[in-house]
Amino acid sequence: MVSIHTNHRLLLILPLSLYLVLVGLCAVWPAIVMQNNEALVERPPEDPLVERGRELYGRGYNCVSCHTQQIRGDERLASVVDGERFVPVLQADARFGRESASRAEEYAHQDPPFMGTQRTGPDLSAVGKRLPDAQWHYWHLYNPQSVSPDSLMPPHRFLFTTEEPSKDEIFDYDEVLNIDGLGVPGPKLWATPDAKALVEYLISLKREYLEQEGLAR
Ligand code: HEC
Repeated sequence: MVSIHTNHRLLLILPLSLYLVLVGLCAVWPAIVMQNNEALVERPPEDPLVERGRELYGRGYNCVSCHTQQIRGDERLASVVDGERFVPVLQADARFGRESASRAEEYAHQDPPFMGTQRTGPDLSAVGKRLPDAQWHYWHLYNPQSVSPDSLMPPHRFLFTTEEPSKDEIFDYDEVLNIDGLGVPGPKLWATPDAKALVEYLISLKREYLEQEGLAR
């Protein structure tokens, strides 16, 4: 019988090998695996107006209570195509455009992420691709039914003003909501800085970085 406590060589070799095995398992192996994962590219800082719009979309006006930014895959229809797992988009989500399902990486730079919990309105992950026209969004915020006749979205008229702003405002108010353009005669309306920031944020939602970072599928 080998007696470890009296065999000096074993006393050194056994704990040392155990230590090396554990280092291999807990540090070296995970590090090798991690090296194969591509690091997320640093995204350039957002335009301050877009940042402000994002803040208003979340905490400010709670758009996130009715809109998600999370396109779900339908795990029931998952299949393997050319060795790669393919999960089609849930039928209910495919209605909002031919976008691929959201991926964890998309939320890496978002704080907080706006995955949402309830979808009273459509998913807005790529609304800027679908609806890139700022004027459309102003009309829509002022009176959603004017551009989406059956829409249930509440109007956000408080985001507009009839008072012509002074020239030295921090935000330029050059966006005039042309109600006449809708065939509805009415007062001239200016978008407030909040409306402008919100619309800039909405049209910035294009999932462009998915392609830039090679994450698009
Ligand atoms: C009470 C729920 C509710 C809230 C709050 C809400 N929305 Fe909506 N929104 C909707 C619904 C419902 C629709 C879709 C109507 C339809 O089917 O056309 C919609 C549609 C939209 C669309 C058009 C999407 C498309 O593809 O046609 C945009 C853009 C939008 N909302 C932005 C916003 C923004 C920005 C806010 C916050 C200022 C907001 N919504 C707040 C319910 C809401």
